[in-house]
Amino acid sequence: MKHFLKETDLQPQELGEVFSLAREFKRKRGRHAPPVLSGQTWALIFAKSSTRTRVSFEVGINELGGHPLFLNRGDLQLGRGESIEDTARVLSRFVHGIVIRTFDHADVERLAAASGVPVVNGLTDFLHPCQVYADAFTAAERWAGPDGDLVAALRGRKIAFLGDTSFNMANSWILGASLFGMRISLAGPRGFEPGARIREQLRSEGRTVDFEFTEDPLEAVRGADVVYTDVWASMGQEEQAEARIARMRPYTVTAGLFAAARPDALFMHCLPAHPGEEVEQAVLDNPRSIIFDEAENRLHVQKAILSVLAASRGV
Ligand code: CP
Ligand code: NVA
Repeated sequence: MKHFLKETDLQPQELGEVFSLAREFKRKRGRHAPPVLSGQTWALIFAKSSTRTRVSFEVGINELGGHPLFLNRGDLQLGRGESIEDTARVLSRFVHGIVIRTFDHADVERLAAASGVPVVNGLTDFLHPCQVYADAFTAAERWAGPDGDLVAALRGRKIAFLGDTSFNMANSWILGASLFGMRISLAGPRGFEPGARIREQLRSEGRTVDFEFTEDPLEAVRGADVVYTDVWASMGQEEQAEARIARMRPYTVTAGLFAAARPDALFMHCLPAHPGEEVEQAVLDNPRSIIFDEAENRLHVQKAILSVLAASRGV
């Protein structure tokens, strides 16, 4: 049985399988969906807001023949102090898989350790692997063309990540870059650079990644194939928003900054966006902005991830 808590939980050949299946699901949407989750119920435990993750998982599980069961963390006994381990043990007696969005990544690891069914990370403060798989697929679709090798299309490409380079999206892109064979250059203010935890994650997995941090946004975007940004105040950081905006202002992805990347560079953002803060509206509207393809591909890629996890359970 497999869990998907971080990008590197799938082997390189499974990544290829996920991308090919996602391409197939996207092409055949509405015509054919193998009911690999037929008769299954998947619990979705959410401790934070969500539009894309919740809806794409609910729709995706339905399209694979399964039944999604949305659970607000606060409505569960978990919210009143029942342990994560007991929650995992009990849910495992009822459901065939669990998707969880919460704050502390360690909670997701504890849930998975005590669970008898696959657990999928729907975002923690540390990582957002479903997003990065969908993002990488979205860029690869553009670069590989309709029949090209999606995994090979990513190798050697450079991504520039701007703004808050210390939180889930930046961490996930660092780990993702190590898996995809991409180079990553991150630019943000001091105090918001990639932290010890992601470096330790790379070290513990014996991974090398061509990754650099700079305070100069122009240096980061030079030669980049993708310019990526995320909100400056993530969920749970709302009270720090004003201070963060003041520090991160030099890292707004303006039309001028985007123009300093490669002429064919793509603009990407996990969404939701705050136009006028981390990115100018003109960049969101640029023909090379692929933000809504990224959002759509959450559905196709997550259906592929669920199919691979379901196969790993032998169901
Ligand atoms: N990108 C993303 O995960 O969006 P939601 O917070 O809407 O799920
Ligand atoms: N960094 C953002 C990502 C949202 C998808 C957050 O955690 O709020």
